[in-house]
Amino acid sequence: MKLWGGRFETGPSEVFERFSNSLHFDRRLLPADVRGSQAFARSLTRAGVLTDVECATLCSAFDSIQTDATADPAFFDGADDEDVHSFVIQKLKQRVGALADKIHTGRSRNEQVSLDTRLWLRDECDRTRELVVALMSALLDLASKYPDAVIPGYTHLRRAQPVLWPHYLLAYFEMLARDYERLGDARRRVNVMPLGSGALAGSGFPHDREAIARDLDFASITANSMDVSADRDFALDYLYAASVVMIHLSRLAEDWILYSSEEFAWMELGDGVTSGSSLMPQKKNPDSLELIRGKSGRVIGALNSLLFTMKGLPMTYNRDMQEDKEPLFEAADQVNGCLEMARIVAESVVLKPSVPFVAAEESWVVATDLAEALARNGTAFHQAHQIVGRLVLESVRHRKRPADWNAETLAAFAQEFTPDIARLLDPREGMKTREIAGGTGPGVVAAALVAARRRLADMK
Ligand code: ARG
Repeated sequence: MKLWGGRFETGPSEVFERFSNSLHFDRRLLPADVRGSQAFARSLTRAGVLTDVECATLCSAFDSIQTDATADPAFFDGADDEDVHSFVIQKLKQRVGALADKIHTGRSRNEQVSLDTRLWLRDECDRTRELVVALMSALLDLASKYPDAVIPGYTHLRRAQPVLWPHYLLAYFEMLARDYERLGDARRRVNVMPLGSGALAGSGFPHDREAIARDLDFASITANSMDVSADRDFALDYLYAASVVMIHLSRLAEDWILYSSEEFAWMELGDGVTSGSSLMPQKKNPDSLELIRGKSGRVIGALNSLLFTMKGLPMTYNRDMQEDKEPLFEAADQVNGCLEMARIVAESVVLKPSVPFVAAEESWVVATDLAEALARNGTAFHQAHQIVGRLVLESVRHRKRPADWNAETLAAFAQEFTPDIARLLDPREGMKTREIAGGTGPGVVAAALVAARRRLADMK
C-alpha cells in the first residue's frame, strides 16, 4: 500500500518501484516502527485526535503485528510496500480497517524514520558495548593467566624494549575502554526523541513531545524540526565509533596472526578458531583473525558510504538518506560479529612464555635499560647512548647476547659500567626501573590489572 497517491494520474513504473523500495532491508526496523507508532497513537489520544477506545484498538493491533512478525517466517512474503512504514500501516489496515487511516495524522515518514532508526540504534549501541566489555574481560583473563610473562615490545616491528604480557594486553584494554565511551557518546546523541517534527516544519497537532519521550524512554526531545529531517549525525557517530572498534580489533588480529606464526611461535590459537588447507595437510591458518582484519574494511567503508551520502544534501530530507540503512545495519552486524569472534579467539589463546622470553633475552632489548643506568650514574644520556650503541655493535659483530657479558667484561668495555649495572643484562631487571604510572614495572602492572577489573565491573 501507498501512503500517497491522490495527486498522481498513474502509478509508479515497475522499474522505479523495484529501484526505490526499501522494505527488503528496512523491515529490520519493524519492532521499532510498531513501538514508535503505539507511542504516537497514545500521543494523538492525549492531543484529542483519537479516543481512548481507538487508541486501545490500534495499540493491540500493533501488538498483534509484532507477534505475527516474530512468529511467522512468511510474514513479509509477497509484500510490495514501499518501505517498512507503509508495510506496517498496510498490516494495520487489514486488522482495524478504516481506523488505520487515522494513525498517520500529521505524521511524516521523515520523523518516523528518524525515530525508528534511533530506537533500533539505541539497542544496538547497548549490544555493541556489552560485546566490547565481554572482550575486555577475556583480555584480562588472558593477561592474568601469565602475569609474569615477558615479551619483547616492538616499534617498527623490531624488538624494542621488554614489557610484561599483561602490560601489552592492557594496552588493548585501554583502546576498548575508549571504544566503550565513544559508543556511550554515540548513544547519548541517538537517545533524543524526534517525533512531533512533522515532515520538516513541526507537527500541526498539539503533541506533548516530552510525554512521548518519556513513553519511549528517551532522555530528551530534539530542538528543531528541520534538523530532525536533515540529520543523520547520530548514525555517523555510531559508524565512527564502530570503525574505531574495528581498527583496534584489526590491529589485535594482525598482532596475533604474527605472534602465532611459525616465525614468532609465541602463541597457539585454538583449533576451534583456525582452519586447515584443502591441499597442504600441515596448515593451521588463523582465518578467524584474518576475517576480523578483513571485515574492518567493510565497517570503515560503511562510515565512508554515509559520509559521502550526506555531503552536499540540501536541507532537509532527501531520498538519498534512505541509503543510510544498509551501511548502518551492515556495520552493526559486522562489528558485533567481530567482537564476539575476537572474544572467542582470546579465550582460545595459549601463550608459550618461554619463546618471547628467549626472544627478549637474545636480542638487545635491554640496551635502553643499560643506557638509562649509565645516565642515572651521571653519564650524560647522549654519551650513555653512544657507549651502549657501541656495545651492541660489538656484540652483533661477535654474535654475543647480553647474557654473554658480565660485570667484569662490561667494565673492561667501558669504565662507566659500574658492577651493579650488569644485572640489567637480564630483561626482567630493567622493567623494575619502570614503576612509573602507566609503565611496565611489575608492581604498576599488577595494580593496573586489579584496577582494570574494577573498571570493568563498573561498565557492566
Ligand atoms: N524509506 C524512507 C527512508 O528510509 C522513508 C522516508 C520517506 N520519505 C519520503 N518523503 N519519501 O528514508
